[in-house]
Amino acid sequence: MGQLTGRTVLITGAGRGIGRAEALFLAAEGANIVVNDPGPQIDGSGGDISVAAAVVDEIRSRGGKAVADTGDVTDWAAAREMVERAVSAFGGLHAVVNNAAIEVNKGVEQLSEAEFDQVVAVKLKGTFAVTRWAAAYWRERTDAGEHEDRSIVNTVSGSGLLNPLPTQTNYAAANAGVAAMTTVHALELKRLGVRVNCVSPSMVRTRLTEGVPGMDATPPAGPDPRDPATVAPIVAYLVDPACPLTGQVLSVRGTSVAVNHGWSRGDRIEQPAGSWTVPELAAQIAGLDLEDPFERLAEALGGALGAGGRAEIEAMVNAQLDRA
Ligand SMILES: NC(=O)c1ccc[n+]([C@@H]2O[C@H](COP(=O)([O-])OP(=O)(O)OC[C@H]3O[C@@H](n4cnc5c(N)ncnc54)[C@H](O)[C@@H]3O)[C@@H](O)[C@H]2O)c1
Repeated sequence: MGQLTGRTVLITGAGRGIGRAEALFLAAEGANIVVNDPGPQIDGSGGDISVAAAVVDEIRSRGGKAVADTGDVTDWAAAREMVERAVSAFGGLHAVVNNAAIEVNKGVEQLSEAEFDQVVAVKLKGTFAVTRWAAAYWRERTDAGEHEDRSIVNTVSGSGLLNPLPTQTNYAAANAGVAAMTTVHALELKRLGVRVNCVSPSMVRTRLTEGVPGMDATPPAGPDPRDPATVAPIVAYLVDPACPLTGQVLSVRGTSVAVNHGWSRGDRIEQPAGSWTVPELAAQIAGLDLEDPFERLAEALGGALGAGGRAEIEAMVNAQLDRA
């Protein structure tokens, strides 16, 4: 058995993609897994309870331990039941991997209220809800005198952190919120022995990335940097009781792992004489080193602006909005 023998890990959205690969990997390392997934479509509609059951069967057929949970992470009571299921099935809970997500990509003027709410609910509220009930359980265990390493691993996307991707108002906002929550929870939950970190996968071949430029539908013959399994060892490391990390957001792309630093302060101006006038502000701010969102996007896509310059990247954004 591996390094996680006897540890119980609840993984949300573990029926497919990256979450499924994490469930299989952590189970092979000896962890008991609660495989949560109600199996909706990419846009959050519908459901299929067989996806969680299939992963449980796969884990058990390899000699591992797992139970299925088909609760929706946006449902407050269901989030509580996930934690209770871990405790009733395996006698406790040591880690939560918040991985569930859906996507509805549209330009801001096309996005409906429901489409905004649903995407934010799964990623941001769902991460909060499951963490909330896990933390309440760990508070009880700590008050009962039980002290041990506990871990939360959140999942975000570069969309919302490093890459300002057009058509992703809801998804980017939710991911940025989860990254912010990671830091707050790392501070708050330290006293309960809980380390809180975050992984940010990139260009992994799942249903979410079908059709993304540069994402081949067919895996290569050799090592596959787009395989969902590439993220799992990093999550296993973060869940391992020997891991010292907390409050970190790690970008993962293939076998490359990078630490991220949050928003950082740039140039500053001061008004020693009291309050600013608008013309004074305008004159001073004009001299500051400002970040251009179009240049940021060009960088995120792999380099500086092309020969067509800024107009080229603006045209690309507009074409993407027209397609969405
Ligand atoms: N694939 C990538 O390249 C990539 C890049 C950046 C971030 N991510 C993040 O990785 C995570 C996994 O994404 P994926 O690419 O494996 O996608 P995926 O669609 O294959 O898996 C997501 C899973 O979440 C489940 N889910 C959806 N709504 C749920 C809900 N309300 N409750 C519980 N489960 C729910 C789905 O049924 C699905 O099985 C997501 O958080 C995503 O934002 C993925």
